[in-house]
Amino acid sequence: MKTIKASIIGFGSVGQGVAKVLLRKNEELRSMGLDIKVVAVADSKTSVVNMNGLDLAHVLERKVSEGIVGDANTTGHDIIRDVDHDLVIETTPTNINTGGVGLQNMIMAFNKKRHVVTSNKGPLALKYNELSALASKCGCAFRFEATAGGAMPLLNLVRDTLAGNEVISIEGIFNGTCNYILTRMMEEHATYELMLAEAQELGIAEKDPTYDVEGIDSACKLVILANAIFGMNVAYEDVHVTGISRITPEALMLAETNGYVVKLIGEVNRQRIQVAPRLVPKGHPLAVGGTLNVASLQTDLAGPVTVVGRGAGSVETASAILSDIISIYMN
Ligand code: HSE
Repeated sequence: MKTIKASIIGFGSVGQGVAKVLLRKNEELRSMGLDIKVVAVADSKTSVVNMNGLDLAHVLERKVSEGIVGDANTTGHDIIRDVDHDLVIETTPTNINTGGVGLQNMIMAFNKKRHVVTSNKGPLALKYNELSALASKCGCAFRFEATAGGAMPLLNLVRDTLAGNEVISIEGIFNGTCNYILTRMMEEHATYELMLAEAQELGIAEKDPTYDVEGIDSACKLVILANAIFGMNVAYEDVHVTGISRITPEALMLAETNGYVVKLIGEVNRQRIQVAPRLVPKGHPLAVGGTLNVASLQTDLAGPVTVVGRGAGSVETASAILSDIISIYMN
């Protein structure tokens, strides 16, 4: 049995999802020979450490009842620096302007020779190449399936299942909030404002929903795909972005009458990275509804491959994080 000492840094929706999934899959993980012991959890205000392994059910309970995880005020960054462990699960809120604490946490983790698995898009959208180089230099694994499309398998699909293929282009829907708004405006002729409020209630919208509706979140995911899959060296500024906030119900109805749906489509290939609303014929593989994400890859050997899945959600995002953890330790 391999014992892995892990920390969960950031205990919002995704961090709590990871704790739930680790509890739920404990037996399966053990049967694979993996004993994942969470020795530290930090949220934005408090933290708790136990080198024998925390009782995650208790930590979750306390978070729900008291809004905190522990009594200490040691920060996640200090835990990464000072607590002896192997793996940092970095799930702090994303900041796509500066990278936020997530960026500092990842740098510290690599400098302390700890592997990083993350759902945090901001640091990768800003500093992917630097982080990746630092991880290699420090001999650490750096996995981030959850950052681009949540539970929809994409990065690991290309890395593992499509290994040996050249990916020529990727296009798809990378923001569940926009997809939800556009789908419901079209199907129920509801207003944009009402549908945005519903997406916020579902817990899938970013804290600042401008990031969703102006296409910024989709653009960040494309930057991650461009750097990680196409080996490019691009940043957010390199993406041509148009959001959905100016789309009128009339435009949607006109599209529908002509057999189309309107979708916020992200597209990346070696020549171009862009996010823009596009007309998609009904029945087309990219015409998925609700909060779903979809990605169609053009590859040289396998031809077109399309994947659909949930791009957000607590347990769904944790599923991608778990697959990264298993992948690190089973290889
Ligand atoms: N706000 C994002 C979305 C969350 O709506 O897809 C997942 O990155």
